[in-house]
Amino acid sequence: MKGVILAGGLGSRLRPLTKVTNKHLLPVYDRPMIYYPIETLCRAGIRDIMIVTGGSSAGDFLRLLGNGADFGLKDIAYTYQDGEGGIADALKLCEHFAEGGRILVVLGDNLVQDDISPYVRKFKNQKSGARLLLKEVSDPQRFGVAELDGNRIVRIEEKPEYPKSSYAVTGIYMYDRRVFDFIRDLTPSARGELEITDVNNRYIANGDMHFDVLQGWWTDAGQFESLYNAAALIAHERGVQARG
Ligand code: DAU
Repeated sequence: MKGVILAGGLGSRLRPLTKVTNKHLLPVYDRPMIYYPIETLCRAGIRDIMIVTGGSSAGDFLRLLGNGADFGLKDIAYTYQDGEGGIADALKLCEHFAEGGRILVVLGDNLVQDDISPYVRKFKNQKSGARLLLKEVSDPQRFGVAELDGNRIVRIEEKPEYPKSSYAVTGIYMYDRRVFDFIRDLTPSARGELEITDVNNRYIANGDMHFDVLQGWWTDAGQFESLYNAAALIAHERGVQARG
């Protein structure tokens, strides 16, 4: 299975940090942010990776990551998203790369503690459809939130004011080839983006959405608080204590 990392967008919530560079090149403790989703894919055994980037620092990804040798990869594929049309808009650029196969998509600002291999195996054993990873959080309003009915996701709401559960939809998505057909049908949301949540709701409506709940920590790093939190989680993993 191939992997995709979405690292486009303008990172406006992290200004001025993102005024002269791409959000995913910012440090999270001892590594650039983009290293973490690459490691997530590599740990899950994915060797064929495309990175979608954008903005004026796109060339820096090539300088930083080159052909992926630091991660034991033979090669990394890159593509470029014009503007900030949303997560699904970035993903649609990967259709030719996917070559009709299944894909594992990771948002470039998502860090996860678990090795996701067991979930990827479950997805491979699915006949068709999509698979999401959820995580129980204390601030679900910041995310896509899954409304659950027993062992089924009934619907996902994007950043709801009154969340129907505390289960956030993490930025790790597994899709079959139909994802690109669903993206073609999308219209931009109120914030002017092609929303991945609309894609996921299509799979739910078709009765072909599955999920697991992450056990270890998970965080995004797209806002000052979550960027700080991500660095603290990594530092803690490396055994570092803050001193003053
Ligand atoms: O972190 C998980 C959350 O990510 C999910 O719970 C939400 O359902 C999902 O919509 C997304 O929410 P955010 O509002 O936090 O997404 P953000 O706009 O910060 O974009 C996340 C990543 O997606 C970003 O680091 C790079 C990529 N992206 C985003 C946009 C808007 C692109 O590649 N291109 C884009 O145009």
